[in-house]
Amino acid sequence: MAEVVIVENPAAAGELVAAEIERLVRERPDAVLGLATGSTPLPVYEALRRRVGALELGRVRGFALDEYVGLDPAHPESYRSVITREVVEPLGLDPRLVRVPDGGAATIRHAGDDYEAAIAEAGGVDLQILGIGTDGHIGFNEPGSSFASRTRVKTLTEQTRSDNARFFASIDDVPRHCITQGLGTILEARHLVLLAFGEQKAQAIAAAVEGPLSAMLPGSAIQLHPHTTVVVDEAAASLLAQADYYRYTFAHKPDWQGL
Ligand code: PGA
Repeated sequence: MAEVVIVENPAAAGELVAAEIERLVRERPDAVLGLATGSTPLPVYEALRRRVGALELGRVRGFALDEYVGLDPAHPESYRSVITREVVEPLGLDPRLVRVPDGGAATIRHAGDDYEAAIAEAGGVDLQILGIGTDGHIGFNEPGSSFASRTRVKTLTEQTRSDNARFFASIDDVPRHCITQGLGTILEARHLVLLAFGEQKAQAIAAAVEGPLSAMLPGSAIQLHPHTTVVVDEAAASLLAQADYYRYTFAHKPDWQGL
């Protein structure tokens, strides 16, 4: 099962995951990171930013999880813009080495296959950062997504559109479609790191970590992966039946093991 690490706050989660990414990049300067957008991964990017200078990230390659369909890439809330602003620029990544799925109408029919080919050509993702939606989605794989799914166009649920309305002038401006790495794509990354903070994520986390495998809770796909780390604050951990066991396990973890 996944290793669950319960931390005091999002900043501590950011430090923990950034330290793991640092270990990876020191071993492999051209490591391939799977990048998530949304509020959750921001503490990881902030903790990495504090390492810039001491840690060279210019050869790191990146693949974003998803993108809105039909939103101008220059729009400030396109994931292309968000990844540029929150990850590429502050961390000094080479923009030519960081890809985001193409949500443009002209190429949308083959954009999923193109993205899959690019990930394969890069040798696959070494470490995939993930958030989870209140409806249990990872990437934009909404409830009902096949565990075998590949990068493709999906329709956003109204719950996701309403969750993301805070980034737009109104909910009417939130796109209805997205292109997202599939659950099958995500499961091929060598290490999954799922983060969640706040009580609004507690139900989705409990279902993903301890609930039955179900396409209706796409985050439960992490149970199929041999190397998943779930990093949560106390609020997001509050509905986990085995929370004490996870605390005990982490407290007694051998130093050499890493995440
Ligand atoms: P959030 O989104 O990090 O902004 O809460 C998570 C998600 O929808 O995957």
